[in-house]
Amino acid sequence: MTNTHDQMVTVETSGAIALVAINNPPVNAASLAVRDGLVKAMDQLSADDAIKVVAIYGAGKTFIAGADIREFGKPPQAPWLPDVCNRIEAMEKPVISVLHGNALGGGLEVALSTHARIALPDLTIGFPEVTLGILPGAGGTQRAPRLAGIPASLELITTGNRVGAEEALKIGLIDEILSGEPRDLALQSAQRVLDGDLETRRTGDLATVADTAAIETTASTLKRKQPNLFSPHKCVEAVAASTLPLEDGLKEERRLFSECMESPQRAGLIHAFFAERAVTKIPEAGETPRPVKLVGVIGGGTMGSGIATACLLAGLDVILAERDEAGLERGRTIITGNLDGAVKRGKLSDAGRTEILETKLKTTTDYASFAAADLVIEAVFEDMGVKKDVFSQLDAICRPGAILATNTSYLDINEIAAATSRPQDVIGLHFFSPAHVMKLLEVVVADKTAPDAVATGFALGKQLKKIAVRAGVCDGFIGNRILNTYKKAADYLMMDGASPEEVDQAMVNYGFAMGPFAVGDLSGQDIGWAARKRQAPNRSPNERYIAIPDRLCEAELFGRKTGQGYYVYGEGAPTLNPAAVAIIEAERAKAGVTPRSFSEEEITARIMTAIIKEAISILEDGIALRPIDIDAVYLFGYGFPRFRGGPMHTADAIGASELVRRIETYAQEDAFFWKVPKLLRETAERGGKFAELNG
Ligand code: 3HC
Ligand code: NAI
Repeated sequence: MTNTHDQMVTVETSGAIALVAINNPPVNAASLAVRDGLVKAMDQLSADDAIKVVAIYGAGKTFIAGADIREFGKPPQAPWLPDVCNRIEAMEKPVISVLHGNALGGGLEVALSTHARIALPDLTIGFPEVTLGILPGAGGTQRAPRLAGIPASLELITTGNRVGAEEALKIGLIDEILSGEPRDLALQSAQRVLDGDLETRRTGDLATVADTAAIETTASTLKRKQPNLFSPHKCVEAVAASTLPLEDGLKEERRLFSECMESPQRAGLIHAFFAERAVTKIPEAGETPRPVKLVGVIGGGTMGSGIATACLLAGLDVILAERDEAGLERGRTIITGNLDGAVKRGKLSDAGRTEILETKLKTTTDYASFAAADLVIEAVFEDMGVKKDVFSQLDAICRPGAILATNTSYLDINEIAAATSRPQDVIGLHFFSPAHVMKLLEVVVADKTAPDAVATGFALGKQLKKIAVRAGVCDGFIGNRILNTYKKAADYLMMDGASPEEVDQAMVNYGFAMGPFAVGDLSGQDIGWAARKRQAPNRSPNERYIAIPDRLCEAELFGRKTGQGYYVYGEGAPTLNPAAVAIIEAERAKAGVTPRSFSEEEITARIMTAIIKEAISILEDGIALRPIDIDAVYLFGYGFPRFRGGPMHTADAIGASELVRRIETYAQEDAFFWKVPKLLRETAERGGKFAELNG
């Protein structure tokens, strides 16, 4: 017999056994219809005297991947997931679950409320709630410690880390691992319950073993390491409540869950979750990508070696080209070091490393080897002449249909494409340093780039496990164009009286790992210097130009690489460099600037407003498809605090009218830099939100 509850929950009976299947593709999220269906199934089976045991499993690829995140922020609709879990646990007849694919968050909570759990070997479990700014709110913080103890539960719940079936068995969250089809195993396991061969018990009937030391240690570590975040601390409080009677602990969990739900961090983190997925929705999504197996990389410096490593780790064959043997040797050494790092981190086996170096990586000084390549990525010096020369050679050598990509940071890709007879095959693939680690890949689409070349860029991004974001051509594309404005805003603050330390500290307190001056010291002040020299001829005479960074470079204070920049680097924490301070003071005096003080709030407001203003201009110019694409670039490539959701999400949090007010105020000092973008003014006038443009 089969009953359906809104199609998403199906009940099938066979003698004394009832099988409850959940079918809500693609991930079986516990949406309203699933929750409703589960409660109805329990009610029906509870009343059916012929049924002696119930087994719940997931139809399709997975068990339940969690609550339906799309419902968050909307008015909650009954039955709530905690009530569903309590209903399952309270069943008077045994209820077991068979888990495959993912049992995450609310999915794991459903499983923990059943009376025994059988896992397939492919199972992944975890409590990702903390990464979404919340905590397990359907009994997870109360039931997991009853089965796995407080330390293991704290580890899962406060980190969001996911573990496999073996680990889940070890810590006690599942009871057995068996191979087979979920439905077959559900039937067999239910029969074992009937036969007395599979033990069942209610998790809520167990008591949590108290562990005050583990609670205190985790609480103090999190206070130190994640002072800006809200929900991890609430997770600890909730787990601490698991030593109370279940009903009281559940009440405490609910109270803390509601606090997290109301926090703006929840909205920011969930926005980040969807940003990662939204960026794949591009106009070229329906195109068939060109096959890519053999990749050519030109330039074995910082970027070329990292890009080659990323491709090799993804199983691609790579030919690396350099100007001479010494360059090749340097590149090979960097790649070998990167692969060694991957072995150390457990991402690659020793044998895999040897295979890559012996068979997958080839090196050459002759571009003729690229004749067989499906894709060539250029990462030579940032110089238009050199890049054009490389592309015209590639045009002559590469086979028709091969993709010719540049990793340029700023240069005009239309001009580079014009150096070839096949601009439809030319594209920007802008990686971030270190390229084998950083998640972001800007796929820069030039005027004549073919749609299937764009699709190929995205397919490559996916294969390299990167987050690819579509960008258009302009000076710096999405990321570096905003970065330029960010740096200018920081320089203006420094010139007008804030110290580099004050600006950096304000950004760290806001949630960035480092402030702009410390980042400049890390990557080398000479890099920006070269870019400024290149841009000098096009600079408007009306632009307020701060020469402090140039003076620093003239004094060879390049940052970490020379031991001194804005800070002095040596033993211990870096300290503000007196030589840099002298330069700052001299420049202020030369320009007749009387330094004033800026509060942390003012520093943050000015920098964020500058970032957002540039982001809006990028939207206006059609360089980014949607606001959420800009958010993704900043979240995954520039260390923007994830809990703030990105610059455009922040723009909505601040409000368009407030942003206009700020820019108009700052414009009284510098009307050239501080202009209100038209789109911002329109959005403010109609009281709108940028999120509306995400579609
Ligand atoms: N709710 C709603 N939609 C979800 C979802 C969820 N929990 N999980 C995934 N989706 C959507 C994605 O947005 C995507 O939609 P799209 O096709 O429209 O872009 C689609 O499902 C497929 O997702 P992925 O592209 O991520 O598919 P993968 O196969 O790569 O990964 C996954 C599958 C591992 C399940 C991954 O989606 C994932 O990690 N999901 C999030 C799981 C999660 O965070 N669960 C906890 C939710 S909070 C909770 O349960 C609260 C409770 O305690 C009360
Ligand atoms: P790099 O100076 O470390 O490496 C460049 C390499 O190219 C050198 O090893 C050089 O020998 C080689 N090279 C130069 N001309 C060549 C030619 N004609 N044929 C073969 N090899 C040649 O520079 P880096 O940092 O790797 O930058 C490379 C490109 O990547 C630049 O366009 C840069 O703007 C861009 N980029 C740099 C990022 C960074 O953080 N360093 C980030 C993203 C992009």
